[in-house]
Amino acid sequence: MVAATDTGKTEGWSSRTAFVLAAIGSAVGLGNLWRFPAEAGANGGGAFVIFYILCVVLIGLPILLSETLIGRHGRSSAVESAKIVARQSGASEHWSLLATIGMLGSFMILSFYSVIAGWVLYYVGVFAIDFFGSLSDPVAGAFAGQTAEEITALLPSLFANNPLMLSLHAGFMLVTLLAVSRGITGGIEKVAVWLMPIFFALFLGITIYGALTADFGAALSFMFDFEPARLLKGDVMLSALGQAFFSLSLGSALMITYGAYADKTVNLAKTSTTIAFADTAVAIIAGLAIFPIVFTAMAPAESVAVLAGTSPPPGGPTLMFQTLPASFQAMPAGSFIGLLFFIMVFFAALTSSVALLEAPTSWVIHKFGMARSKAAVIVAVLAFAIGIPSALSFNVLETVFPLDFGMLAGQNYFGVIDGISGKILLPLSGLLTAVFIGWFADRRLTDSENGLDGAMHLIWRFLIAWLCPTAVAAILIVGIFLS
Ligand code: TRP
Repeated sequence: MVAATDTGKTEGWSSRTAFVLAAIGSAVGLGNLWRFPAEAGANGGGAFVIFYILCVVLIGLPILLSETLIGRHGRSSAVESAKIVARQSGASEHWSLLATIGMLGSFMILSFYSVIAGWVLYYVGVFAIDFFGSLSDPVAGAFAGQTAEEITALLPSLFANNPLMLSLHAGFMLVTLLAVSRGITGGIEKVAVWLMPIFFALFLGITIYGALTADFGAALSFMFDFEPARLLKGDVMLSALGQAFFSLSLGSALMITYGAYADKTVNLAKTSTTIAFADTAVAIIAGLAIFPIVFTAMAPAESVAVLAGTSPPPGGPTLMFQTLPASFQAMPAGSFIGLLFFIMVFFAALTSSVALLEAPTSWVIHKFGMARSKAAVIVAVLAFAIGIPSALSFNVLETVFPLDFGMLAGQNYFGVIDGISGKILLPLSGLLTAVFIGWFADRRLTDSENGLDGAMHLIWRFLIAWLCPTAVAAILIVGIFLS
């Protein structure tokens, strides 16, 4: 139901399942499969993971519920919905800033998300050629194509190829645009309903394969070994909080936007819990699927050193595109598993990128009374353009932005956009949301929407009014200025 657009069409999810799948589809993406393991690796594993889980449960979940609540009550674009809730609560309409910042965050994320997703497309191609080639090549044998070294060498050559990088970026943006311009039920929902089940099937299969054939024990201890000394570091905390926001698609106006298409009968508390649970499970399982494969391919001495903390763990953006593909290739049926793996990542990325495009698009539709397809084209073209320097950040623009400013020090353009959106804009939007819902929104309004009762209601009130604002503010300050 609902959310009338200015073009006169009424849009909404066709069922609760469609809403849940689309929201999970938006949450589960490169953030879980590419960014979470990379961040966990870069931040030392165990301490990061534990703090991440705390962030999801105590901060992410209450804010997720608040965002869907604002959307469902306002039933408009994210900015408009926030204005409506503010107006009905007798609060300043400037609170809609929470959605404006979020939308800006979505837009910035989309600009580089499509770059990374373009690499995923490239690796789908690489492994497809590899797999089908190896089938007909009796020397290489079925399911085994190029060597691990050959696969590792692919990433630098991709990075050096500007036209290819830009074409992949454009290609992925185009696919995203096609889905979004077809609307909620005609495009976005179809993508989620078809691709998410396939995603989960592939995900389970690959995890089981990893657990059976690779060094699962090393991955377990890497992910869960607890190092209290690292836990209280500002940068680790900020990374974990930023990752929780990024992964749950919070602070990006999206959950408000998607909430606006939800029916009144949907229980938002239950739905939010399902979304947060599914997203976190996928992130952690992804770590447990990726690291065994990586550890197996490492020299034994190296993995001992990594687990002991004396050698830096594999992490960063190349984990998925270099370490992992090379590790696949060293394993039985490597080309085949690699192909399935990258198809799976591609599906996850697409269900997220359509959401990233939808948040700003729905704003343009409402604000300018523009037709959906036209609005989507404008936003997509802009995001593509803003993303061009990100695509070139790994080659010609490698060292542009040698900023000497705290967390942004030494970053390239890509790192700066990623840092500003993930570590500043999203938490800031989340902070405003928590303060707004916790202190300024009409209690009768929030209570009638949230689907909570009894003790859970009190817990949510406490978290959203007290813990979320103070924790997010503290982490933002410590993370940005003191680390
Ligand atoms: N949650 C997505 C992921 O994990 C990334 C993301 C952040 C996002 N904010 C969003 C996706 C808003 C859609 C909408 O990959």
